[in-house]
Amino acid sequence: MKIALACDHAGYPLKEMLKKYLNDYEVLDFGAFNEESIDYPDTGFPAAIAVQKNECQRGILICGTGIGMSIVANKVKGIRASLCHCLEFAILTRKHNNSNVLCLPGRFLDDNQAVQIVDAWLNTEYEDGRHQRRLDKIAAREL
Ligand code: RB5
Repeated sequence: MKIALACDHAGYPLKEMLKKYLNDYEVLDFGAFNEESIDYPDTGFPAAIAVQKNECQRGILICGTGIGMSIVANKVKGIRASLCHCLEFAILTRKHNNSNVLCLPGRFLDDNQAVQIVDAWLNTEYEDGRHQRRLDKIAAREL
């Protein structure tokens, strides 16, 4: 599985930590590459588009709250981006939403919390069944 990583300045420290942590995966880093102020759409859109095109199978996008990145990613057709700040959300959004982009609030998670969320999100399977009917309804209305 290839993972697209992206952040802004507020997500940079967590992105760098996760980049090292995810050494069992192929990672494509869309930046930011330092803590200078940068606009999250500039890195978030290219990363989400890489997932849309299946150049990467998953994406992890990090800004201060995770909210900006989730707005960006969910503008991209085919992306189901989930802002998760707890383990339970990470598990449920994989099981129920077949989430393909994880958005994290870099300013509100410590490394341990982030790793738990990422591990759960990467390793939980989609349940399919009744959930697919709902995802099909979303896909049918995507612009
Ligand atoms: C940057 O200050 C901050 O606005 C950004 O990281 C993010 O939280 C936006 O949603």
